[in-house]
Amino acid sequence: MGSHVPQLDLMRLVQPFGVTIDLAEGTMRSPDKHQVRRASVMRGYYADQEALERLIAERGDPVHYETFEKHVPEEYGHLVFGLTQLQPGVVGEECFMTKGHYHTVAGTSEIYVGLRGQGYMLMKTPPDAQGRSQCVAEPLVRNRLVYVPPYWAHRSVNTGDEPLVALYVYPGEAGHNYGDIETEGFPKRIFKVQGREVIR
Ligand code: F6R
Ligand code: ZN
Repeated sequence: MGSHVPQLDLMRLVQPFGVTIDLAEGTMRSPDKHQVRRASVMRGYYADQEALERLIAERGDPVHYETFEKHVPEEYGHLVFGLTQLQPGVVGEECFMTKGHYHTVAGTSEIYVGLRGQGYMLMKTPPDAQGRSQCVAEPLVRNRLVYVPPYWAHRSVNTGDEPLVALYVYPGEAGHNYGDIETEGFPKRIFKVQGREVIR
């Protein structure tokens, strides 16, 4: 009987580790990778482009959102995880959001666990032959897990008054395809009109 235990490639063996995450605050201790996205990277994403230019000019290109990660190889077999923190605010009346992306390996999924703040995970399918996409806004709040199935593009949107913080986990080989969302956009946008959330 041959062994079913795969041969270990000791050169590629990653050591187990732990990381301290404050689930109430939504912070990670000593991240290896900290990515900062400022408002200016969102040019072309919001409906009211002039309002975005005013925000950039008046507030000195403020931080829009950040991610914090521990180093994990971005390859099959690993799980990449981290925290995403999206600032509160509006561009015109449209709530602050992330760029959004499909995964390059389109058949990979992701989970988000809401830790702090209030918002949505906006998800859409690629357009069909008639150019139509399905679009779903799933609440992303504390104590709620959102499952992003394979093929769905995803973007988080902050509708609250404090940072929207979530923990995410996705397969290491997934990769990020921003280009298609840059051209397609999402069929729905989320606004705050006189203090009320409007999805249209
Ligand atoms: C990873 C993922 C999140 C986002 C993060 C920033 O697959 O979905 O880590 O990357 O919330 O948003 P984007 O990538 O849209 O700029
Ligand atoms: Zn993703």
